[in-house]
Parts: sequence; C-alpha cells; structure tokens
Amino acid sequence: MLPIYLFYFIVVAFANPFKHFGRSNDAKKQFLVSKLPGLYENIPEDDIPLMFAGQLELYPENKTHYFYWKFIDQNKIPEAENRTIFWLNGGPGCSSMDGALMEAGPFRINDNGEVTLNEGSWHKSGDIIFVDQPSGTGFSYSDVFDEELYQVSWHFLRFLEKYYEVFPEDLGNEIYIAGESYAGQYIPYIANGILNHNKNAEVPYNLKSLLIGNGWISPNEQSLSYLPYSVQAGMIKPSNPRWGQILKQHETCQKIVDKIDTANDDHVHEFEVVSTQCEAVLGLILEATQDDSLGRDQACYNMYDYTLKDSYPSCGMNWPPDLKTVTPFLNQENVQSDLNLIAPKHWRECTGSVARSFRASNSLPAIHLLPGILEEIEIVLFNGNRDVICNYIGTENMIKKLTWNGKKGFDEDIEPYTWLHNDSTRGYIKSARNLTFINVFDSSHMVPFDLPEVSRALMDLASNNFDEKDLEVVGGNTKKAFVTYPLGERQAKIKEAEAQDQDEVPLPSVTSDNSTSSSTSSSSSTAINSDAGEHEEKTSRVTRLIQLLVIAILIWGVVVLYSSYKSRPSSIIKSGPSGRKKNVQWADQLRQFQEDDDFPLNNSKNQSIFSKAFSKLTGGSDGRGNYAPTASEDIELGDRPSGHEVDDFIIESDDEEDHQPPAKPAK
Ligand SMILES: *[C@@H]1O[C@H](CO)[C@@H](O)[C@H](O)[C@H]1NC(C)=O
Repeated sequence: MLPIYLFYFIVVAFANPFKHFGRSNDAKKQFLVSKLPGLYENIPEDDIPLMFAGQLELYPENKTHYFYWKFIDQNKIPEAENRTIFWLNGGPGCSSMDGALMEAGPFRINDNGEVTLNEGSWHKSGDIIFVDQPSGTGFSYSDVFDEELYQVSWHFLRFLEKYYEVFPEDLGNEIYIAGESYAGQYIPYIANGILNHNKNAEVPYNLKSLLIGNGWISPNEQSLSYLPYSVQAGMIKPSNPRWGQILKQHETCQKIVDKIDTANDDHVHEFEVVSTQCEAVLGLILEATQDDSLGRDQACYNMYDYTLKDSYPSCGMNWPPDLKTVTPFLNQENVQSDLNLIAPKHWRECTGSVARSFRASNSLPAIHLLPGILEEIEIVLFNGNRDVICNYIGTENMIKKLTWNGKKGFDEDIEPYTWLHNDSTRGYIKSARNLTFINVFDSSHMVPFDLPEVSRALMDLASNNFDEKDLEVVGGNTKKAFVTYPLGERQAKIKEAEAQDQDEVPLPSVTSDNSTSSSTSSSSSTAINSDAGEHEEKTSRVTRLIQLLVIAILIWGVVVLYSSYKSRPSSIIKSGPSGRKKNVQWADQLRQFQEDDDFPLNNSKNQSIFSKAFSKLTGGSDGRGNYAPTASEDIELGDRPSGHEVDDFIIESDDEEDHQPPAKPAK
C-alpha cells in the first residue's frame, strides 16, 4: 500500500512541473514569476497562480518587445482547461496592467505595495495573458511606434507566433480575446488577422470568441450618444447656458456621420477613427457641467462613471483610485525584476507618446470588420451602464445600424433577456446571429473593476455555459433570462445529474459516451465490454509494467526531492504541515530559475537598449513631425502623468450660438 501512496505523491508533486516545463522548458524558465511582494504572505497557498511574465522579443531589428503577464490557476475547474484568454486595455497607449491589477487579474495592490487576492479573477475561467501593446505601451518597448490599426494586427500575430514558441502546449487551446475601450478597435483587427492567417496556416489558431467591454468600435457613431446619454443620466439639462453650443457640436458630428454613411463605400474617410469634431461633444458637456460648489475634487463628472466626481479638468483621469497603489508597485525595482524585465522601464498607466503617434488616419474603424468576423465566430459586446465615454446607448445605436449575417440590427420586437447571475439581476442581454450585447448594471467603464465576480461570468455567457429560463414576473407574465452561476457550479450540477441518471437508468448507449468518467456504473460497463476477459489480461500486464516504472521513478523522485529540499530558499516556502504539491513545485522552479539566471538586471548591454527606448518614449511630443498631425491644436484635458482611454479630447474654441436641437432623440 505504501508504494501506491508514494506513487501518488510523486506524481502529484511532479505532474505540473513536467506539464509546464516540457520541451520549451528553457524558453519558459526565463519568464517564470516566482515571487512578488506579499505573494506568500497575503495569498492563500491554493490561490497562488502559476505565473510567467517578461518582455518577449518580436523584431530584433527595431528592438520591439511586447510585455506580457500570464496567470494559470493551479486548481483548474474543467471548463478552464484548454482555454487561453488574451486581455488588452485601450488608450491607445494604456497598459494592460490595468486589466491585470485592477480588473480581471488575480491580484489587487494594497497600500503597502503588496499583492492581495481578487476573488473574481478571470484566470479561474481560463489561462489569462495580459499584453502591453502596441509597442511603447506599459512595459513594452521599441524603436518605432505604430500609427495604424493594421499594424496592431500584424504585430499581435507576430506576438502570438513568439508566444506559442514559448508555450507550445497552448497551441490547441480555445482562444478568447478580451479587452476594453480602445481595444474595441484592436480586437476586431487582431481577430480578422487571425482568421486570415488560419486560411492557409498549417496549425490554425483556435479562435473561439471575442469579448469587448465598453468598446470604442464606431467612434463617430458612438460620439452621437454623448448628449442623449448625459441627458438620460441627469448630468445636463436644456437649461444649461452652454446647451446651444453643445447642440451645435453634436450637429457637426451628425453631419460627419451622415456624410460617411451616404458615401456608402469602404474607403477611409477623414476623421473616421479619430474625429476631433465628434469627440469634442463630450469635452463640451464636461466643461458645461463643471461645478465648483462641492469643492475642487467634485468639480467634474467622472467620464468613466457618471455617479462619481473628479477635479476639473481631470474628469476621471485620476480614477480608478487603485492607480495610487498600482503605479508605485509597478515602479518598484524589485517588482520589475520579479516580472523579468530585461529592460526596466518607468511604468505609467497610459503613454502619451504612443497615443500621439497612433492616429489611425488610414484605418477603417473596427465596426467595418464585425460582419466578416461574425460569419465565423461569436462576439460579445458588454457595457458597464455608468460609463459616459463609451456608453451603452452608443453601442446599442451602433448595433442598430449594423448589418451582419443577413439582417440589420437585433429584432426590436424581441424583449431583451434578463441576465440573472447567482440569483440577482445583473443586466439585460440581446443576442442574435453570433452577436451578443450585454448591458451590465451598476458598473463603470471598467466592468471587472466594479464587479469582478460578476464580470467573470461574462466568460460563461461567451462560452455557452449558461441556462435559458423563463422567469415569473408580477402579473403572471414570464420573462426570458440567461442564467449564470458562481464559478464551476453549473458544470458540477450537470455532472451530478448525469451521474444520477446513470445510476437510475443504466442504458449502455448513454454510458458509452461517458465511459471515461469515473461515475460509470459497473452494470453498464460490463454490458459494453463483451470481450472483457481479454481486455483485463492486457490491462494487468500494463499495470505490472507501470508498477515497475513507478518504483524506478520513486527512487529517482526521492533523490530529486531531497536535493531540491536541501536547496530550497526558505523565504519562498510557506510550507504548511502537509508539504503539498505546490511547495515542491515552487521550490523546483525557483531553483532552476536561480541556476540559470542569465538575465541580471542593469547589465550594460541591456541598459543601452533600455535608455534608448526610454528616452524615445519619454521624449514628449517634440520631434515627432513625421507622425500624422492632428487636424487642430490639441488642448488635452488635464496635465496627465498618465492620460487615459481615448484620452485626447479636443476642446475647440467655438462661437457660442443658439441652435435648434437636431432630430436626435434621447433614448
Ligand atoms: C456563427 O458562428 C459559428 C461558430 O461559432 C459559425 O459556425 C457560424 O457560421 C456563424 N454564423 C451564423 C450565421 O450563425
């Protein structure tokens, strides 16, 4: 009996390292993250994810490196197996470390600059990789910056190629690409690139679905929603002294949209992705609604959550409050070394020079790519309903005008579904022909920031892991609902029900499908195997062979365990009395990492790469005349250490002039 227990111990102890350190062992180990401030103190052992991070080289010729941070749950639920989620924040130029440390990732940063646990992390729903892109964003760096959306697509495909060289075991996994805000431009471009790549690729990428939160997909169309949204939210009334000026700007934007619509071609029109005229509507509304009477900090509506206030002219750029801890955390020297940066870099939430370079003036807005993508895969568009800048009214209006899979818009006669998560209403859903729209109640521009656990269930909505039910409502009517559950609960219930069914009705036809599941009843399994005797004899021979192997592995394992135990650094091991798998695994990883540490920080070669990239990135806007200029002078809202999503709002001085309201009803 003892050898059997030992066998299990050895297998459990070494199964994960073998899985994660296979052929690509060497490539991977330079990216292993084995410590972070607070990791072993604040995070329960079972919740410590397996992590890889670093600056992956894409193009040596211009030193382009993309930074990524990958999180793998060590106790995966079955649904999370074989699933890879890539997460992108927007900007352009805003780091996906927002996503990692304030939204969908497993950590938050506390006031002491340490990681703490986010119970609603998406990495429980699939391996998740946060990628800083395009180059120059966050910890990514390069000699050159992107200017157009198709470059984002090319370079992300290159990133994937490099990523799968390091993680070849992920190649067959289902891919979900998720993100927010300006990533509403990136993600469809990347998806389009992947689908094209797949047409003549030997190993196609298994792209499954896209999830875009508060996406900036059809900029001008969405800008037309600022006025109706602000009125509906009670931010502004027609009695406002600037009302006429705002209407005029709104109408100017409407004319641009009409012009593009009537052109009805697939050419890039002036200001199509970046229209100073359309974006100015929001700037005007924020300006017109500023109010110092509540104090300086309350002077402006937070454009990412209208229920909050901020100082003027920041209007939300100081939000979310976690930036106060996240920014210094990522700029700790030891954290940058823990994250395996070969070129340390000052981290800022959004890099203005990336945004300034990225004008996308020769790119069609991503909305044009949606119909083609929807022919092949599903897209989920979700909106936190308190966001102004990429608000849900804009998304819904954009969908109304969109024709995909043979029809225009959602069927207006059909009532939206209620989204019920863990027995409470979380929003409403419209879904048809591969496109799903979700309005998420009580949440901002960053849905996973406000509602981490609820936001994770968006993955269930995107992967068909929900029930459709009729709900009783007052008056005896019923309402249709999509119902999601806490992590893993639905699949667990399904399994349980299947197991019960099998016990009650042992039909061979049913059980044969599930013969590998442990719950197969004995009566049905004998019914299937008419040649059971021959089968068993073969099995026993194999068993004996395995037993021999086990003994060999056992001896070897004990030796390795002992030597790794002797060399394990005590700080890394929060060893419980159980001496469980993770302790062994982490010690093993760390040992390899230390032995092969050929990436010391501050070595002179890396320093020069870094300083070059750094000076370029912090050089400000001067000397950037080779980039597409803006149509008018930018007056940015606020001096920003960071800036923010869709952050270049242009306020143009305009004559105040009364104007009749255009025929644009507020919904
Ligand atoms: C929808 O997506 C699936 C893949 O999920 C695809 O097979 C199908 O052709 C798409 N189109 C329509 C109209 O449903």
